[in-house]
Amino acid sequence: MDYKRKKVYVAMSADLIHPGHLKVVSKARDLGHVTIGLLTEKAIASYKRLPALSYEQRKIIVENIKGVEEVIPQETLDYMPNLRKIKPDYVVHGDDWRTGVQKQIRNKVIEVLKEWGGQLVEIPNFKDISSTKINEILREIGTTPENRRKSLRRLLEAKDLVRFLEAHSGLTGLIVEKVNVIQEDTKKEFDGAWISSLTDSTCKGKPDTGCIDLTSRLNTIEHVLESTVKPLIVDGDNGGSIEHFPLTVKTLERLGISAIIIEDKVGFKKNSLFGTDVLQTQDSIENFSHKISQGKKAQVTEDFMVIARIESLILKKGLWDALLRARAYIEAGADGIMIHSKEKNPTEILDFCKEYSKFDKKVPLVAVPSTYSIMTEKELKDAGVNIVIYANHLLRSSYPAMVKTAESILFNERAYESEQFCMPIKDILILTDKGG
Ligand code: SPV
Ligand code: MG
Repeated sequence: MDYKRKKVYVAMSADLIHPGHLKVVSKARDLGHVTIGLLTEKAIASYKRLPALSYEQRKIIVENIKGVEEVIPQETLDYMPNLRKIKPDYVVHGDDWRTGVQKQIRNKVIEVLKEWGGQLVEIPNFKDISSTKINEILREIGTTPENRRKSLRRLLEAKDLVRFLEAHSGLTGLIVEKVNVIQEDTKKEFDGAWISSLTDSTCKGKPDTGCIDLTSRLNTIEHVLESTVKPLIVDGDNGGSIEHFPLTVKTLERLGISAIIIEDKVGFKKNSLFGTDVLQTQDSIENFSHKISQGKKAQVTEDFMVIARIESLILKKGLWDALLRARAYIEAGADGIMIHSKEKNPTEILDFCKEYSKFDKKVPLVAVPSTYSIMTEKELKDAGVNIVIYANHLLRSSYPAMVKTAESILFNERAYESEQFCMPIKDILILTDKGG
């Protein structure tokens, strides 16, 4: 580096390079030696959706922009660590961050630059492509099974807690894909969809007893794959027989599913939330471990995950049984452990998490807070949970809404009064319409 030249710092995530980026870099180049602080996956995931391209892919692109001399990782959304290290004479950014979620960051940058007499240079009338627009473009382009499959592992690397919501149709897939809220400078959304056996069966008017076969489940999965680009985790019940499980793994992996969760039960399937009110039999540790290892052997890529679900707390076998099984299943090759509970009080889950955190060999931990819904994501995260699954909420909330509408029509012998419960017709027309 020529030490007479001024140092210029530009931070970007560069998921989709557009002329705005080039304008910023071109201005930076006029000012001196350009260093790009490329946001890492962790930094991006801390405030919005994971980028479509990996850090390495984005780095290759940015390194090749004319005028870029150096690319370094920016590990946090906060510029401070890099700014203090580099002490640039200039930071260049579009003026679009004067308002909105980035305003605070801008103020902080100006403050810190003052420490060594640095200056913020802004590109006037800058119009960034909004991330909503980018997401729309990406959804329209679609994804590949390959990219989608590996995205769960990427998310687990980038975030302490990954958030999944149940989807049982193309429509609910769209909700998982699109719904977001902005809170405290962070855009929150779901990271992926859980293909629940309970909601898939219920939606087909059937009990959750395994009577919906894989072919029919694949139909639902196909609809969710169509309406999303986010990762999918499939509820595989008990995975079927040891002979059949490897075939299921191959099928799901090929489709681009990221993970299957199988539960350590045998015999006639009953939903876990019945607990000990119905007869449910747990598999032996040996048998279930063998099933896990057979599944692992069947997969073709490194990306697919077989997650073992422990039913010991559901079946009142106690914490030590659950921990014993967790150790055995990890040994057998499980890529994750799901610990399930049907208690309202989260104590038994927290007890499990506490003991689990002491394991030498750990894999991502999954929790499904359907009954202990009192627990917040922060509490789950602090307890060491890595994946939270909201397993049935879209179906459970839609059913009462639909019944209300049906009752209103019966009661009034016309639909007028039910309109208040319905979305406007024009909204439903554009919901799935790509502008045609
Ligand atoms: C499902 O969603 O189908 C599950 C979770 O397996 S539970 O219903 O709690 O068993
Ligand atoms: Mg299930």
